Amino acid sequence: MEKRISKVVVMLSDKGGVGKSTWAASLTHAFNKASGKNWAVLVDMDPSRTSTLLVSPNCHGRGSLTYISTRRVLELCTVESDGGEADVVPPGEAEEIDGRAVEAYDDLIATLAEHYYIIVVDLPGVPLEYSPLIRHAAEAADMLVVVTTQDSLHMARRIRTEYPQKPVYVVLNQYVKEFGGETEARQISQSKWGYLYTICPFYGCVRAAVVERKLPTKACKEFEKCVDEAAQKILSVLHKL
Ligand SMILES: Nc1ncnc2c1ncn2[C@@H]1O[C@H](COP(=O)(O)OP(=O)(O)O)[C@@H](O)[C@H]1O
Ligand SMILES: [Mg+2]
Repeated sequence: MEKRISKVVVMLSDKGGVGKSTWAASLTHAFNKASGKNWAVLVDMDPSRTSTLLVSPNCHGRGSLTYISTRRVLELCTVESDGGEADVVPPGEAEEIDGRAVEAYDDLIATLAEHYYIIVVDLPGVPLEYSPLIRHAAEAADMLVVVTTQDSLHMARRIRTEYPQKPVYVVLNQYVKEFGGETEARQISQSKWGYLYTICPFYGCVRAAVVERKLPTKACKEFEKCVDEAAQKILSVLHKL
């Protein structure tokens, strides 16, 4: 019997507004599209539930944070995607997250690993040192996806330096040509798996690319292309781990 070996991809950024949740939702879609199956699940751990709302606007109920704070059951939502369906674990309600949060997080991931090959975890955009839970999620991940803008590349470099042994995929997002940063992104992303980075320009139609897939303007298509290319590169690294 084939043994299921799941991989955990954790999305990181030091601040909000860089496109982390957009990428988390879009990558989950892209993984399912690439496999043609419902193999990836999105775990939203941000109380503002941005990525949940992107993939599934009507998804309420208990989710990751409820599970971590109270160990009550999960209520996943399933939505249509190009790969057939995509599942999302909404954040639910965060009661006091205590010292056992780290074990509860590991339980949550282990439970999901019984059903999915790829677990994409979206986190609030705060520095690692602010939250033991975020730090733990980063440490326990198989791969980190750091979403950054041109003005916060130093943060991507810092995360890269902290996890020298781990594959760190750098997304230089909302890129505007005049502000540079390509060389630095490439350099930061260098690893034994090659250069793990994508430069994704600022597009006018990103929300539509994720949510309203039936109205693909040129900009939406371009954004989807960025995500699909990154998803392929991420998958090829995950296969090697
Ligand atoms: N490549 C891009 N071009 C233009 N807008 C983008 C791009 N990526 C994300 N956005 C927009 O940036 C805003 C913040 O994105 P979000 O994913 O919520 O960021 P974060 O999770 O880092 O706070 C959203 O309005 C989103 O549509
Ligand atoms: Mg977010």
